[in-house]
Amino acid sequence: MLTRQQIEQSAEFLINKGFDQPEIGIVLGTGLGKLVDSIEEPVVAHYNTIPSFPLATVEFHSGKLIYGMMGGKKVVVMQGRFHLYEGYDFIDITYPIRVMHELGIKKLLVSNAAGAVNLKMKKGDMMLIEDHINLQGGSPLAFKGVNQFGERFVDMSAPYDTAMNGILKNLAKEQGVTLHEGVYASVVGPQLETRAEYRMLKNMGADAVGMSTVPEVIVANHLSLPVCAVSVLTDECDPDNLEPVNVPEIIAIAEKAEPRMVALFKTLIEEL
Ligand code: HPA
Repeated sequence: MLTRQQIEQSAEFLINKGFDQPEIGIVLGTGLGKLVDSIEEPVVAHYNTIPSFPLATVEFHSGKLIYGMMGGKKVVVMQGRFHLYEGYDFIDITYPIRVMHELGIKKLLVSNAAGAVNLKMKKGDMMLIEDHINLQGGSPLAFKGVNQFGERFVDMSAPYDTAMNGILKNLAKEQGVTLHEGVYASVVGPQLETRAEYRMLKNMGADAVGMSTVPEVIVANHLSLPVCAVSVLTDECDPDNLEPVNVPEIIAIAEKAEPRMVALFKTLIEEL
């Protein structure tokens, strides 16, 4: 069970390290890794050194929290996120969000890589997540004692912050980049979807599908933390012409989109 004490311990360690009242939290997914190059005066805390971090395992040695300045703001960046498909549970994968909130962040920015289910969207394009469908078979709020952290029955009528979404849409226009808007469906993975599953996702109203983000967004809403999220679409999920998954190509496409994604987030931070 998650306790307040654990979160306070993790936060205290980070505050003592110099994580001084960050304003913005950022979850780096595929496509945003290079954002860390823009952090000024970085302070780094590896996950496996942070007390009470449930993820402090030998296995996950490369994950870290980075604190610093970006676009004139104090930010805390999560480099390396946790997925259900790696064997973590919903409380583990959302724990860093609760710690960043404890540190004082007022806004959360999330990125990920996803497959395009809506075939009007092409690989390499970006999609602003406007709403989501949770197909991960559970919730990060379905545990004992959740009320200590906020109302259990969290409203999800507008899970993504419309003000930040508006700014992102304007910035994309100014920067001349395609930013679709759509519904993200989250699955557990790690296997990709079958043709029948892609057909189902399309029929149920999803525009993109991926294996992350939704638990973090649910917890942000639980904490009344405004959140926005952008996907880079790395493959086209056409059930009638489905090609075998090509992971090197997915990574290459995410890397190609990276400068556009980084520019979008950097300018958003300047405007917040
Ligand atoms: N399905 C699920 N996750 C993904 C995909 C996909 O097609 N592409 C990138 N992440």
